[in-house]
Amino acid sequence: MATINAHFNTLASGYLFPEIARRTAQWQKKNPGVPVMRLGIGNTTEALPEAVRIAMKEKIDALGDRATYTGYGDEQGDTYLREAMVDYYRRWGVDLEPTEFFISDGAKSDAANIQQIFGPDNVVAIQDPAYPVYVDSNVVGGRSGRYNAERGQYDGFVYLTTSEEGRFIPTPPNGKVDLIYLCNPNNPTGAVANHQEVKAFVDYAIANKAVIIYDSAYSEYITEEGYPRSIYEIEGAKRCAIEISSFSKFSGFTGVRLGWTIVPHQLECEDGGPGVLNKLWNRRQCTFFNGASNISQRGGYAALFGRGYEESRALVEYYLGNAKIIRDGLTSLGLTVYGGVNSPYIWAKTPNEMDSWQFFDLLLERCHVVVTPGGGFGPAGKHFVRFSSYGHREDVEQAMKSVKENAGI
Ligand SMILES: Cc1ncc(COP(=O)(O)O)c(C=O)c1O
Repeated sequence: MATINAHFNTLASGYLFPEIARRTAQWQKKNPGVPVMRLGIGNTTEALPEAVRIAMKEKIDALGDRATYTGYGDEQGDTYLREAMVDYYRRWGVDLEPTEFFISDGAKSDAANIQQIFGPDNVVAIQDPAYPVYVDSNVVGGRSGRYNAERGQYDGFVYLTTSEEGRFIPTPPNGKVDLIYLCNPNNPTGAVANHQEVKAFVDYAIANKAVIIYDSAYSEYITEEGYPRSIYEIEGAKRCAIEISSFSKFSGFTGVRLGWTIVPHQLECEDGGPGVLNKLWNRRQCTFFNGASNISQRGGYAALFGRGYEESRALVEYYLGNAKIIRDGLTSLGLTVYGGVNSPYIWAKTPNEMDSWQFFDLLLERCHVVVTPGGGFGPAGKHFVRFSSYGHREDVEQAMKSVKENAGI
């Protein structure tokens, strides 16, 4: 008799986005014909860079000719792209080898799958608030213990709670943990840790033989000096960190799909010396993954250099321009806001200690604007909402005009 993986029953979330959709649909039913403005979801809206599109079209044409057709590629990604990634990282002063890169169909799947190469008894530390996949993948991996509904947290995880006082930057745990998930620049708070703050984690991980899973999906949004684009800018990080990243927010690949994971040869853990985790991830990918789309890989290559890079940068600047509009608008209302400078997300404190779902309802009902309630990312987000800068400029302007005129705060 087949039975299910009962760890799925322990999953508490899956609640956030369906609940937003439910409340929005209910409101629309009551207010037919009134358009809703969405500043909630982190989904890109602007056209792909032209150089990327041309590169992908060329690949499609090559696929249409048997002389240049290619089928399955290497599970780890095409060599030309892995070599190009090495050059890309050199810009930030980071030296890596092509065999340390694993090209994938996006950062989300890698962030979810990476836990498979670690034992079920690893103690996992996760930021609160956090991008939900780190929590959920480790719940399914059997590391969470029971969900404590009262606290809104799992008994088995160590939470690195961030707060206003600490600029939403986490600090290493007091006790011993084995796996640490860091997202920098952070989704949802928009906070970005500096070299020193990331170094504290690297030092902790080396001292405790822990491994850091570092999600840098928003690194291209760093516009100010003093913040690392990659964890490998920190001395010693190759011994203790895996980096996961993505073309999604950097070059509009949310629908195209392309990401990468770096597992350095030097990386070690409690029961395995240098090279073991690189070999394990390689094994995992070769067993369960057949490589990223060859069309996407050609597009990704084009995004890394020359015109493709300039056009990708222009996209990032566009979204950061939206972020500034949102930030300025909310500040003018007297709200306390974080993020939006080195990140596409603005983390706004709710007025009068309002719960994040209450503020969500207020913005929907009075302003017809949908945001993401911070409580959905963890208990530390209870008094915050996340505004996303992904939208057409005119829509963002209109939404902010409505918030300023109608929120009544
Ligand atoms: C922190 C973070 N990591 C990863 C992802 C997913 O990236 P991808 O589109 O490459 O799967 C997102 C998407 O919103 C994200 O916010």
